[in-house]
This record gives sequence, structure tokens and C-alpha cells, in this order.
Amino acid sequence: MVITELDDITIQRIETPEEVARWRAAFTGAYQTIFSGFPYFERFYPSEAEGVYRKLTSTPNQITLIATRGESSVVGFGVGIPLRYHSAVAQELDGLVPIRHAFYLAELGVLPEYRGRRVGRTLVRERLRLIDRGTFSHVLLRVSTNNTPSSEMYRAMGFEDMGVYMDVNAMRTNGRVSSDRRFFMSRVLSQVDLED
Ligand SMILES: CC(C)(COP(=O)(O)OP(=O)(O)OC[C@H]1O[C@@H](n2cnc3c(N)ncnc32)[C@H](O)[C@@H]1OP(=O)(O)O)[C@@H](O)C(=O)NCCC(=O)NCCS
Repeated sequence: MVITELDDITIQRIETPEEVARWRAAFTGAYQTIFSGFPYFERFYPSEAEGVYRKLTSTPNQITLIATRGESSVVGFGVGIPLRYHSAVAQELDGLVPIRHAFYLAELGVLPEYRGRRVGRTLVRERLRLIDRGTFSHVLLRVSTNNTPSSEMYRAMGFEDMGVYMDVNAMRTNGRVSSDRRFFMSRVLSQVDLED
């Protein structure tokens, strides 16, 4: 379903099994490319990236948005799921937020050549619009401490640092496993202006 357009880029929501199947390969390719660059330098094999996509798109109440160009290119994505379905993060934040009423912005990425055109911001804003406010009161995300473009974007959109850190291990493009430090940011959903 088309959500909005930004010049030649279309923001779409993936919901039906047909849509999930149609965009699987393009999403997987964009995911590998984006996370292999700054600031994560992560190595995902195609099967791993596909596994992430399958898991997220089959999570109940997920919101998966893609930024597409033409008939088959994915140039960006933004995925959100109820926090309770991300057990490692839910465990980390237990007692700090109402877990069953928190929505987690799990993935965001835009291909380097399409950055700076407000695609990232739109992928966040449109997910915020789509979250069920009858169920969810808080929206959260995790960002690497050296990811200034992303944390600045979220700050500009009203998200605040929760002062909670988590070290995440990942396989890097140099073939080594190393950890990077990530912090959590949050917003109360009722304060999000749907007209923004
Ligand atoms: C973070 C990311 C999604 C931003 O996408 P984008 O399409 O370039 O973002 P936008 O054009 O919508 O920019 C939104 C805001 O981000 C901030 N921003 C973007 N690039 C920035 C940079 N290089 N330095 C500082 N702030 C930056 C600005 O606040 C900008 O708002 P402005 O245009 O009003 O100044 C993109 O850089 C990306 O994919 N990075 C790699 C993957 C990643 O870090 N994902 C996020 C994980 S939490």
C-alpha cells in the first residue's frame, strides 16, 4: 500500500504475504549494503538478511515500510514491532518502560546515494503515524553512540536519550566479531503531533 511519495521515491507499507514475497530480495540487498557501511560495518550474509526480513515481517502488529524507486528497487526501509517481541531489548528495558505498551523502531536505513532527501525522516514519521495509540504509549529505538546522523535526526524529531546503554556484538566486514555501544531513545506517543 502506498503511504506517501517523495519526488521519485515511494514510501510503501508491506503487509500481505504477496507484498512480503515481492520485496524480499530487494529489501535483503538494501539491508546488506546499508549495514555494511558507516557506522555499523556489519557483515550479513544474504540468508541472514533474509532471516531478519522474514522474522520482522511475520511479527504480529509489525509496521514495515520501504522506500522504493521504480518497479523493483528498495532504497530504504523502516521497520517497527511491539517491544515485547524483541526479547533482548525488552529484558534490558524491563522496569523502565511499560513493555506491553511500548513500540520498538527496530530497523532504519537509506542507501548512501539517497540520503539527505528526507527519506529517513519520512520512514520514521510515517511509522509513528501508523502505531496503534490504543495499545502503545511509548516508542523506543536503539542507536550506536557514534551514529550522529541517526541520533541527530531522532533528537530533531523529539526523541530523548534514556541514559540506558547496551553493547551489541556483530560480525564486521573485516571478518571479526566486535561490540559497539548503543543507547536508547524514547518518546511518549501521545506527544507526537500527527500533523508534523
Ligand atoms: C540515519 C539515516 C537513515 C538518515 O537517512 P536520511 O534519508 O539521510 O535522513 P533525512 O534526509 O531524512 O535527514 C533527517 C535528519 O537527519 C539528520 N542528519 C542526516 N544526515 C546527517 C549527518 N550526516 N550529520 C548530522 N545529521 C544528519 C539531520 O537532523 C536531518 O534533518 P535536516 O535535513 O532537517 O537537517 C541514514 O543516514 C542511514 O541509513 N544511515 C545508516 C544506517 C543507520 O544508521 N540506521 C539507523 C540505525 S538507528
